[in-house]
Amino acid sequence: MSTRRDRSSADSSKAPTNPARRSLMSGALGGGIAASVMGMARAEQANGSAQRDFDGKAALITGGARGIGLACANALAARGANIVILDVADQIAEVPYPLATQKDLEAAKEQIEGHGVSCITIKGDVREMKAQKAAITAAMESFGRLDFVIPNAGITQTGFLEELSEKEVDLVLDINLKGVIKTVQAATPILRQQNSGRIVMISSVTGRMGAQRFPVYGASKWAVIGLTKSTAEALAPHNVTVNALCPTLVRTALLENDYVLSTMIPGTTLTWEQFEDAAKQLHMMPVGFYGPEEVGGLAAFLCSEEAALISGDVFDIAAGANARFPA
Ligand SMILES: NC(=O)c1ccc[n+]([C@@H]2O[C@H](COP(=O)([O-])OP(=O)(O)OC[C@H]3O[C@@H](n4cnc5c(N)ncnc54)[C@H](O)[C@@H]3O)[C@@H](O)[C@H]2O)c1
Repeated sequence: MSTRRDRSSADSSKAPTNPARRSLMSGALGGGIAASVMGMARAEQANGSAQRDFDGKAALITGGARGIGLACANALAARGANIVILDVADQIAEVPYPLATQKDLEAAKEQIEGHGVSCITIKGDVREMKAQKAAITAAMESFGRLDFVIPNAGITQTGFLEELSEKEVDLVLDINLKGVIKTVQAATPILRQQNSGRIVMISSVTGRMGAQRFPVYGASKWAVIGLTKSTAEALAPHNVTVNALCPTLVRTALLENDYVLSTMIPGTTLTWEQFEDAAKQLHMMPVGFYGPEEVGGLAAFLCSEEAALISGDVFDIAAGANARFPA
């Protein structure tokens, strides 16, 4: 996969084509938030109500062309941060569902720049360190600093352990674990030198509890928490905080695809609505899938001054499901 710097703008973001999704998105749980974010941002700027405490700061977000990464980018950009997105924005042949496209990446840039900040997009694969290096070079050349790092790029995988081939195991660990390690390795020298910075890792509920249908994916997410703790300890003397977020079931294309719906329960193809019922059973609060902006909001909080002394910690976004976890 080539690493390419791309500053082009987009036409527009895509409307959801699945009618079931459209009704969910327009209902109480969704609210068409992604589609309206640009308008909201412009309205905030016009009436001066936006909190711009990240003005002049710069963030690197991997996997930011859509989903949780894009929501994190929007949450930081809304507070004034310039953004570098690193995303493969192409299909990785071995991944059994569609990843983001070049069009998604361009639409993300347009959406983020709607907040009145700059966004640089880098097309590259987090499995190759040259991609992270290109993204960090871009941040330093364009913005002169790097304040926030969100190693978010990841793929899902379902299947009992004995069903997974060596190649499938390697693929998930290479992206979800080694890709995160490489992002942190590439960013750390800059943060240490600056004597400031925030790293927000994206783990998962499968990094907090057993999930027999997600053995390797879950292992990668437990490992991200281990990496969070060790990195927090190493960077604490340099005023860099490192925390991990553990979402449960977020309404993104990582879940809403034929591969996931047909493999969640062996021998059955779930409808999106049936899957949402399962999400409601997991959550103690009356919530099914929730929007990625819930994760983006917490990531922005952890990058804020209010969170300056919070480090080495793990935050569940679980609508009460973690009331069942051990402390
Ligand atoms: N959706 C959920 O319910 C959920 C729950 C817990 C944790 N997560 C985690 O959140 C993160 C984001 O997930 P999402 O739901 O937004 O998924 P998504 O598929 O919508 O977004 C993932 C992004 O990462 C990019 N990407 C994938 N592999 C890449 C690679 N090798 N190099 C560069 N970019 C790559 C994709 O193109 C895509 O834009 C993942 O780490 C995922 O494991 C998601």
